[in-house]
Amino acid sequence: MTEYYFMNGEYVEAEKAVIPVRTHAFLYGTAVFEGIRAYWNEEEKQLYVFRAKEHYERLERSAKIMYMECPYTVDECCEITKKLMAKNEYKQDAYMRPTLYKSAQKVGPGLYDNEDSFMIVSNKMGDYIDTSKGLKVCVSSWRRNSDNAIPPRAKVAGAYANSALIKTDAHNAGFDDAVVLDEEGRVTEGSAMNLFLVQNGKLVTTMKTDNILVGVTRNTIIEIAKNELGIETEERAIDRTELYISDEAFYCGTGAQISPITEIDSRKLGDGKVGPIVTKLQKLYFDVVKGKVAKYKHWCMPVY
Ligand SMILES: Cc1ncc(COP(=O)(O)O)c(C=O)c1O
Repeated sequence: MTEYYFMNGEYVEAEKAVIPVRTHAFLYGTAVFEGIRAYWNEEEKQLYVFRAKEHYERLERSAKIMYMECPYTVDECCEITKKLMAKNEYKQDAYMRPTLYKSAQKVGPGLYDNEDSFMIVSNKMGDYIDTSKGLKVCVSSWRRNSDNAIPPRAKVAGAYANSALIKTDAHNAGFDDAVVLDEEGRVTEGSAMNLFLVQNGKLVTTMKTDNILVGVTRNTIIEIAKNELGIETEERAIDRTELYISDEAFYCGTGAQISPITEIDSRKLGDGKVGPIVTKLQKLYFDVVKGKVAKYKHWCMPVY
């Protein structure tokens, strides 16, 4: 079946969605983007796009930092997303990547005199990481780019050169992923997902000011853990050695969803098995994203 993308104000066949090779965003990574998931609810025969509004609000914030302006409002972006999903007739989980990019064909890094274009590509998708098994990760020898270099708060395409090095070196060393420290040696997040620790029955995660992308999934977990499981989250600076002595740990993100970590730098967490709190959270999270929890159904945008 033909797959469609949204580009230059139109729904176009995937193979026709191309950009000229001199496009600024291609030459310099000057694009801001989002990763959004849609979940298929088999009982309702419905596809739900999870927290589209929050993703597009973050896209607007990323755009502001990068002197960009989205040609569509948040509501219009949600509407376009819905139409694209329907046009692709997805009846299973899917992923989409809205991207706002500097589209002038020009050499030189300046963001001025450089128009903005918007597109969304999408595909069918299952798990990006196997969420049923525990991950073995390391602390990366790379450092996270800082707020005063390439701000992690903005989801900028060029910044993912940092994630690429982190992920690749972790993989080459035999690990599933890595935990990244900042220049001060404080914990930030994973290669492309946020990090939570479990200590004495509580969740601990880094602060919004700790050189992280402030994840939509992170915010979702803080809220549902508190409201549904009575588990509080402490947002604070995290030392490297806390990684080794936590009871449980997990990554979270649109791609990673909730991915348990069972070993960090060859030290087992707890008994080395996927822990009880992450297991409970995973179940709750998958119910929420599929629109099965009435209280959070407003986070799930129906496509059909
Ligand atoms: C660097 C980074 N941190 C965290 C996240 C998690 O963000 P979200 O939960 O909004 O997908 C992502 C994206 O998935 C990311 O690329």
